[in-house]
Amino acid sequence: MNPANGHAGKVTLQGRELPFAAGETILDVAKRAGVDIPTLCHDPRLEPAGACRTCLVEVDGWRRMPPACATKAADGMVITSESPKVERHRQTLLSLYLTDHPTDREASEKGAPDQLLDMAEQFAAPTDWGRMPLQRSGRPTDTNPYIHFDEDTCILCARCTRYCDEVEGVQAITLANRGIQTTISTVDALGLLDTTCELCGGCIDVCPTGAMGEKKPLVRKDKPERELTKVRSTCNFCGVGCQLDLNVDPDAREGHGRVVKVTSPAPGSTTNDGNLCVKGRFAYDFVHHEDRLTTPLVRDANGDLQEATWDEALAAAASGLQGVVDRHGNDGLGFVSSSRCTMEENFLVQKLSRQVFRTNNVHQCAAT
Ligand code: SF4
Ligand code: SF4
Ligand code: FES
Repeated sequence: MNPANGHAGKVTLQGRELPFAAGETILDVAKRAGVDIPTLCHDPRLEPAGACRTCLVEVDGWRRMPPACATKAADGMVITSESPKVERHRQTLLSLYLTDHPTDREASEKGAPDQLLDMAEQFAAPTDWGRMPLQRSGRPTDTNPYIHFDEDTCILCARCTRYCDEVEGVQAITLANRGIQTTISTVDALGLLDTTCELCGGCIDVCPTGAMGEKKPLVRKDKPERELTKVRSTCNFCGVGCQLDLNVDPDAREGHGRVVKVTSPAPGSTTNDGNLCVKGRFAYDFVHHEDRLTTPLVRDANGDLQEATWDEALAAAASGLQGVVDRHGNDGLGFVSSSRCTMEENFLVQKLSRQVFRTNNVHQCAAT
């Protein structure tokens, strides 16, 4: 509860009396109390849409079950989130979703885990309700190399379109058509590169089924995300320091591991709130690029770069710096570090400058 909002009243949830702050939803109260209510279209960064109906709960005195994500808590409310009626609703809803959604995880789960299938398993939703032919259209002519849209697994939760609108402020994608033909599209079904899309990849990140997914791992036929190991890291493309998760296949490159994709940590858990830019999310190929230097290089007497050991390289750098001091004094040196380095690395550069070479000629671009 945000204390700034003050204590606005109490609800009873599953027999527990719980306080809430003004403006909080039933889902907010449940999350804080550790009561699990399933959601698919909810994202704390977005205005509630109440689109998927997985979070319906019972409220005493209410004829219809309201969505916990879009219903404000009110003083004296008595809420039931686990009951035979709620369970029956979840099973029915999930089975309806599955009538035009692939149920074979092996075949359908192309990248990120499909949370609809996870949820159907969790709540034992019947999977034998017959099938409806798919009416949603895809965008097979969208040849952008980064983001694919799989109409089969889309559940029309609109998290992707709402993220694009409310967080990115771009509106490159939208819900198009009506009824059973509703799908996710762009203006005139153009490819994303011909729209206002900034390739932030946020639509991939928020999609609960993997319908919006990253193309490169699919083209390379990499392992699906649930078989990869997530390693938390700091993006070094700029000085903001966004947190990201490197999804690593530890068996690739003869056991040396390979970064297969980048995903963002959960909203609210890091300073970038689960958001990344195009570089942070998609520009990870450099990590294993064949042009990367793997050994230090030192110039020989002719000025040509030659491979060297770290000891040789550090000795060459030290003697070069000392040579400047000998010829021009300590203030003949200047140290410039980068906001792309970590704070610790920048700290060490100023220690090197001030303590080792006794000069205050040290600068970093973030200081200007
Ligand atoms: S990549 Fe970003 S800007 Fe492009 S459609 Fe997705 S959310 Fe919108
Ligand atoms: S593509 Fe994903 S996020 Fe977008 S509406 Fe479909 S299921 Fe939801
Ligand atoms: S999470 Fe509440 S309706 Fe989708």
